[in-house]
Formats: sequence, structure tokens, C-alpha cells
Amino acid sequence: MQKNGGTGMTDRTTLVYDANEVVVGPGDGSPLTIHEDAAIAIVGGDVVAIGPSDEITREYPPENATTAIDATGRAILPGFVDPHTHAVFAGDRSDEFAAKLRGKTYQEIHEEGGGILRTVRAVREASDERLVEILTEHLDTMLAHGTTTAEVKSGYGLDTDTELRLLAAIDRAAADHPIDIHPTFMGAHAVPEGHDADEYVDEVIDEQLPAVAEQGIAAFCDVFCEEGVFDVEQSRRVLEAGREQGLTPKVHAEEFTRLGGTQLAAEVEAASADHLLHATREDADALAETGVVPTFLPGTAFALGEEYADPEPFRAAGTPIALATDFNPNCHSRSVPFAVALGCVGMGLTPAEAIRAATADAAQALDRRDDSGQADPSSDGAGTLQEGRPGDLVVIDAPSHVHVPYRFGENPVRTVCKEGEIVHER
Ligand code: NIG
Ligand code: FE
Repeated sequence: MQKNGGTGMTDRTTLVYDANEVVVGPGDGSPLTIHEDAAIAIVGGDVVAIGPSDEITREYPPENATTAIDATGRAILPGFVDPHTHAVFAGDRSDEFAAKLRGKTYQEIHEEGGGILRTVRAVREASDERLVEILTEHLDTMLAHGTTTAEVKSGYGLDTDTELRLLAAIDRAAADHPIDIHPTFMGAHAVPEGHDADEYVDEVIDEQLPAVAEQGIAAFCDVFCEEGVFDVEQSRRVLEAGREQGLTPKVHAEEFTRLGGTQLAAEVEAASADHLLHATREDADALAETGVVPTFLPGTAFALGEEYADPEPFRAAGTPIALATDFNPNCHSRSVPFAVALGCVGMGLTPAEAIRAATADAAQALDRRDDSGQADPSSDGAGTLQEGRPGDLVVIDAPSHVHVPYRFGENPVRTVCKEGEIVHER
């Protein structure tokens, strides 16, 4: 699989026609705008027309297209955006999953040197090639589930050399993969063995961040702001230092306790505040005022047997609502459709809200903003289907977007196009 690029493909035409519905993005006063009995034409990678199938096929006859996909009885959606993953790691923690089912908590496992610290040991032992190979396998599975844009965090190195190796692995895997990857530096993911938190925060700021900035791969800087990990002041120091190095903040906030990570995300104008299981209406208002995108990770609640986050305060505050997989060794799901199903069944999102959360709103969590600083999903089109924007789409083996959560536990994705080119087909 190669990225699109080079010359000679400007006339390449992809036509997906006779679809039962085409979901194009957020609607005016409704979560989604949907065209029925519709088609989409993509020329040279960008969408050129979306509309009634008979009209579109008159202008772009299937027999003249480079690629023509008959979508009879099926739905077309924007490619999914997964704005929170820890997809580059090594080792196996399936035994911890089993231990948690017998009653062990995530924090107990962490205190015994398991959890993140165990993955760190496995990553430090893995070669660069192995890390790229593992990540590529994960990206292939994500793509097969419809993800065309994703964020990937470092954070299993916890020393300068290994954090740089993880970011380099992300960069190498991304170069040969159809998924658009947004790399995040997360040196402040845990306090490594033998360090105290303040001393480690100094290392992240004085050694890791300058090296990460010089390497020039990471776009975001994330921190695990949590009781027993990094407190609000330590998190603020990391995020401000990251900002000085040109990295946009993101925060793991209120996952196990309400520590104040959401207010911090608002204060530093982070791209997103993520998890939010214990966030309040006050927190939602702070995000609404500052344009920080709340990002929900219902797979984590599912894996830990926790209560799901409540989207109601965020609806009331009028924020976007983004969904992500949080794919990591503690939450081993690479499937956005599964996150969508949990968003509906666990959090009470409507199917349309959940699809919007996994597409246009998820793109906002990756800071796809316009020059005025306003979050604007139309600025580059990720997570939407619009004329003049990239033709990143999925065709599902079902008649409507509602079937994505309705058919929970199976993969509804049949065909994935990146800039109009078929990059996955079942
Ligand atoms: O977002 N909460 C912190 N980080 C990850 C879990 C990482 C791990 O357990 O390996 C998360 O859930
Ligand atoms: Fe996470």
C-alpha cells in the first residue's frame, strides 16, 4: 500500500454510485446531513460531486471511471477519524485483562509494576524494525475497520532515547501507510521505575522535549493527569514546555478521579481533553468556552468495567463530542465501529451523534482548525465528504449509518477509499 502522490493521477476518477445513503458530515441543526439514493465522484483524490445517483452517473458514467463501485443497498460514510490511540507498543498484557475480570484494579496492576511500566520494558527491548512492524499490523487492522485518519502517541519509552525511537517508528510506519497519522509525544505517560514524579517531569522538560522538537515528528504533547501519576501542576509544566517547543497540548483528564485535568486543558487551550469519566458540567462549560474538544473513550470503560462517561453536560454546553478507540494494551480495540456502538449503548449517544463523533468531531480533536483559531471541521475536510476536499470514505455492507452501532461486534466496513483510491476491500 502506497500513499497517493506524484504526478499522472490528476485525472483518476472514482465513482461510488447507487448508494442507499451518503453521509456527508454535520447538518444544520442535526448531527448529520444524509443524501439518499446518492453517488459521489472523486477526481484526482478530491471529491468533485455528491448528489442524486442518476445525475452524478450522467456526468461521470461508471464505464469511464478509473474505479467504479456499485454501492446498491449500502451506505457511504466519511472515513473514520480515531483521535486517541497508543498504537505503538510491544509485549502482551492479556493476562492483566483476565486478572481485572477476577477483580484486580488497573491501579493495583500498575503499582505491582504491570500495566504501562510492563509495556515500557517490552518496548525498550524491541528493535526499531519490530516496532514499525507491530504498528503497521495495527494500522492495517484499523484501516480494515474504516479508519483513514488517526492519532498515535508515544509514551511507552519514558526515556529520551526510547521516546524518540517510538516517534521515529510512528513516522516510518506512517510513510508507507494509507492512514493519515498525527503523532503525539507522551513522555509524561507514567513515572518510570526508580524516579519520582517531579524529577521525571524535569527530565521530560529539560531533555525529552527539546530532543523531540529537534526530531520534528510530534505534533501534540499529551500528559496523564491523574492521582498517583502527574498532578495538575506537573501536567501544566509539561504542556507549557511542550507548547514552547511548538507542540499542541492534549490531556488525559478525569479518568479515575476528578483531579482538574479538564480545567487545565481549557487553561492551556489544548486540542482535546480525553476520557472525562468524572468530568462535570463546569468542566464541560470550560471546554465550550475555549474550544477544547472533549474526547470520549468508551472502550476503556468497557475494558475496565467502569461506568461510561455522561455526554449530557457536554451536549448542554454545546461542545463537539468526539469518540476514539484509545487502542492500547489495556483496551485492545482497533475498531472505531465498536467505539461507536459503545458510544450509543454505553453513553446514550444517538447513532447519528456517534457517527459525527467518530468523523467530523474527531477531526476537530486533532486540531483541524481554520486561521481564526475557531475549530472548523471544514478547514481540511477530514471526517466529512465535501466538494474540493479529499475523498476519504468507507462503504459499509449495510443500508444506513445506523447499522454501524446496530451490528455491534462485527465489522460493517466493506471498502475503504483514501483520496479516492481503494486502500482496503473485504
Ligand atoms: O488512555 N490512561 C492512561 N493511558 C492509557 C492506558 C495505557 C496503558 O494501560 O497501557 C489510556 O487508557
Ligand atoms: Fe490514552
